This record gives sequence, C-alpha cells and structure tokens, in this order.
Amino acid sequence: SFEVKLARSEKVVLVPKDMTVIEALAAVGVYIPTSCEQGVCGTCLTRVLEGIPDHRDVYLTAEEQVKNDQFTPCCSRSKSPMLILDI
Ligand code: FES
Repeated sequence: SFEVKLARSEKVVLVPKDMTVIEALAAVGVYIPTSCEQGVCGTCLTRVLEGIPDHRDVYLTAEEQVKNDQFTPCCSRSKSPMLILDI
C-alpha cells in the first residue's frame, strides 16, 4: 500500500493493495474522470508533484514515464511511500 496526498486539499488517502488510486479516492468522495480503466486512453491522466509512480499504463511513452510528473491512476501505482498529486 501507499498514500496519495492531494495538493489542493492536503487530504491524504491510503491506497490499499486491492484498490486502484481511482477507487481509493472515490471512497473518500474524490472523483477523477475515467474511461478505459486499463491505462490505454489517458482520460484519467493526473499530474504528479512529488513521488515516483509505478507506471502500469500503455498510454504514456517511456520518455514521458521516466519524467514522473504524471501518471494514470486507473491502473498505475507508486514506488514511493507517497505520491503528491496536483488535484
Ligand atoms: Fe484510461 Fe486511465 S481511464 S488510462
């Protein structure tokens, strides 16, 4: 598990192993628009301010992924204990 912090509200949300970031946020009333939920379409793309995403999408290019400044919360996770998101 890891945590995501929402930069604008300073809300910190735990993302358990068996939930996606999208699901964990929805459980506390924060909704990010999604479409494919499989890392293909990019609809859920969210800016990352701090932390290292564990990219599991096929939407971002390898070059975009290594920048670690955005990720797809429908399927991607975190390599660092916390991701700070620009939402
Ligand atoms: Fe399609 Fe996340 S909803 S990439």
